[in-house]
Amino acid sequence: MSKLKVTIVSLIILVFVVAGCSLKNHFSQNDEEKWNNQPTISANKSARKKKSVHPDDEALQVVSTPEAIPVLINKNHTLPDGYRPTDLVYPDIPFTFEKKTEKRKLREKAADAIENLFSGAKKDGVDLLGVSAYRSHEAQTVLFNYYVSLDGYEAARTYSAIPGTSEHETGLAIDVTGGDGKCAAEDCFAGTPEAEWLEKHSAEYGFIIRYPNGKDDVTGYKYEPWHLRYVGKSIAKQIMNSGITLEEYLKATPVNN
Ligand code: DAL
Ligand code: ZN
Repeated sequence: MSKLKVTIVSLIILVFVVAGCSLKNHFSQNDEEKWNNQPTISANKSARKKKSVHPDDEALQVVSTPEAIPVLINKNHTLPDGYRPTDLVYPDIPFTFEKKTEKRKLREKAADAIENLFSGAKKDGVDLLGVSAYRSHEAQTVLFNYYVSLDGYEAARTYSAIPGTSEHETGLAIDVTGGDGKCAAEDCFAGTPEAEWLEKHSAEYGFIIRYPNGKDDVTGYKYEPWHLRYVGKSIAKQIMNSGITLEEYLKATPVNN
């Protein structure tokens, strides 16, 4: 090849590389912005890298049936890379925010069930609001990194899941709060009439309180009276009536933090 041809080919390659890089940067920024209502943490790239550095790497198993309704996702069980449920829909329930974003979505069965649960609660004089349902892997990454930036990695892990290990990524979990929108995903939700109603009635609609009080050593997380996980009515009733966790129901190893 002549010197001129080599120079032209090199220039073309350079143009493609530069264009590719700027597209990639643009994509990550947009991804993060999808997580509306959360602070933008685009600079927090070092925390993001931690998503693949799981402290219990040896115990970490990739689940083989992520679409199964009773799938166990916890600190020892992660979703396969790139998993995204295929039947996400918008449940017809009110949220603490107006915008029609992805975090309103749930998988079809869970969406039907949460509509029934909200109607049942209303009949009993209990008003509920959705706070956060489906989260893409990117959204969970942004959220986890945000908590790490607030509280540090170890503390964040007691209440927020490393990306890949959050039930919100399955489309089968939703955080809810009372109709006044106060105490959304906060400790002060515990003991409210809404929390008590959920404790008593969630299983009738196929949901469990996934992180019960005093079960930190089994689930790996502190009490979250607002985090509902759809498992179907039969399993939900067995779990809630006997005061156990999904780990115990499935005879899985306790997480022990
Ligand atoms: N707060 C729960 C553990 C999550 O981040 O999925
Ligand atoms: Zn939750």
